[in-house]
Amino acid sequence: MQFILRTHHVITLVLWVSASEDFDWTKNEKTSFYYGTFPTGFSWGVGSSAYQTEGAWNIDGKGASIWDSFAHRKGKIFLNDTGDSSCEGYYKFKDDVTLMKDMKLNHYRFSVSWPRILPSGLKSERINEKGIKYYDDLINMLLANKITPVVTLYHWDLPQVLQEKYGGWQNVSMVDYFNDFANLCFERFGNRVRNWITFNNPWSIAVEGYETGEHAPGLKLKGTGAYRAAHHIIKAHAKVWHTYDTQWRSKQKGLVGISLTADWGEPVDVTNQRDIEAAERYIQFYMGWFATPIFNGDYPQAMKDYVGRKSGQQGLGASRLPVFSPQEKSYIRGTCDFLGLGHFTTRYITQKNYPSGVGDSYFADRDLAELVDPKWPDPGSEWLYSVPWGFRRLLNFVKTQYGNPMIYVTENGVSEKMLCTDLCDDWRMQYFKDYINEMLKAVKDGVNIKGYTAWSLLDNFEWDEGFSERFGLYYVDFRNKNKTRYPKASVQFYKRIISSNGFPNQREVESWKRKAVETCSSSNQLLAAATRESQGGQEHAGVQRAWPVHDEV
Ligand code: NOJ
Repeated sequence: MQFILRTHHVITLVLWVSASEDFDWTKNEKTSFYYGTFPTGFSWGVGSSAYQTEGAWNIDGKGASIWDSFAHRKGKIFLNDTGDSSCEGYYKFKDDVTLMKDMKLNHYRFSVSWPRILPSGLKSERINEKGIKYYDDLINMLLANKITPVVTLYHWDLPQVLQEKYGGWQNVSMVDYFNDFANLCFERFGNRVRNWITFNNPWSIAVEGYETGEHAPGLKLKGTGAYRAAHHIIKAHAKVWHTYDTQWRSKQKGLVGISLTADWGEPVDVTNQRDIEAAERYIQFYMGWFATPIFNGDYPQAMKDYVGRKSGQQGLGASRLPVFSPQEKSYIRGTCDFLGLGHFTTRYITQKNYPSGVGDSYFADRDLAELVDPKWPDPGSEWLYSVPWGFRRLLNFVKTQYGNPMIYVTENGVSEKMLCTDLCDDWRMQYFKDYINEMLKAVKDGVNIKGYTAWSLLDNFEWDEGFSERFGLYYVDFRNKNKTRYPKASVQFYKRIISSNGFPNQREVESWKRKAVETCSSSNQLLAAATRESQGGQEHAGVQRAWPVHDEV
């Protein structure tokens, strides 16, 4: 028996090694489907975040966050929606864990709202025990159902007071305040939580919060604000990692990572050196901005060169990109136990010069243009084209650039068009099937991927788009006080991927969609009936699909 086992291990090892040869970037295997399964122990989950789902924005002692204030300002969010009640996750978390259990998920990724447990942002001022209790209950409920909690410490909801008093992430004092908050979370939850993500998508915090102003806190500090915010976020991440490493790791034995979101950038012309370099810059200004300091100790060379040169042309004495001291570089390098990766879409990239002086900005600093192929499917959000092969490329890029770190995919998913109430979401099943398959190919390429998190469990508050963009596996009826959840067909589809740990064989996989849609028509009827009821039977509210026309980019 032992001998058989050993032989089996040797064979597996040989297959694995031969499968892990370097990725061939010139090969154009963009459409083939790969049947096979993920390594044993691969973790399947879904994700959410506090402001997008919890609601209860001013309940039980919670302080306001920058998103509460931003959404309460007229004209900032589509239709002036707010996350005041959202999915009422604060009250319905038990039901939601039941949904997760039914899907046989291995993990659930959620975030802790900083002002829910520290209403003024500061640990030294007041700890809100009711907020702590909410997360305690959620964590306990997950564990009781054998679902591993994966906790994000910052999914964009900075305490509003810290914005008002200090200017938020423009101010270096956030580093210590965030560290205090994180330390409190380790102290209170760390006996049960082993997987921590410091920041979710810092690119978005920096660029959309401080450069374009589309997101809270809505500042438009072009050409400087994003770089400064990112600089402090990177320092804060490193500090929290060190805090965990020195104070908690030996007792709690957990992991601390960061979740970076990045699109893939493919050169428009793969034979044109300028396009190749532009595509490389696109990624370096996106994911590399954060990943390179954290894995390799400093900002990417391309960023230093381009922002430095542009700043010089503007007549500035120093680069708009801040500089890390040698001590800071070594303090920041290596502060990642795993890389969380959020990925949704791809762009074609070409070189484009932005002469200095005409609107200096983060975007102009990159000297490139983004394009899309009009043939790419765009089932939901305007920016989200389904380009599965870009995912495999991005994963291989991470492997080669950052020394093959352990990766957890922390977000991947697709929305539907505005007003769509069809729960038979064929486009989402197709998206998951193709993207997860590209991830499987990346595993075979030798990329060290340990888990996958579908975005999102529920339809929720999609930031400046309000409730108009639905990413959920479950549809949420936001007009109804109960915020009733209805399964979309993709719930069944994802369940099958999970129970098979991948795509076992063609015959079986091809039956999944058919089986998944068997249940969605009855859900459609239930939703239509609820719609009729809420409209007092006045109108016929059959299943409607609206496909607003929008131009290709
Ligand atoms: C990334 C963000 O982290 C998440 O909050 C958002 O809902 C998804 N992208 C979809 O846009």
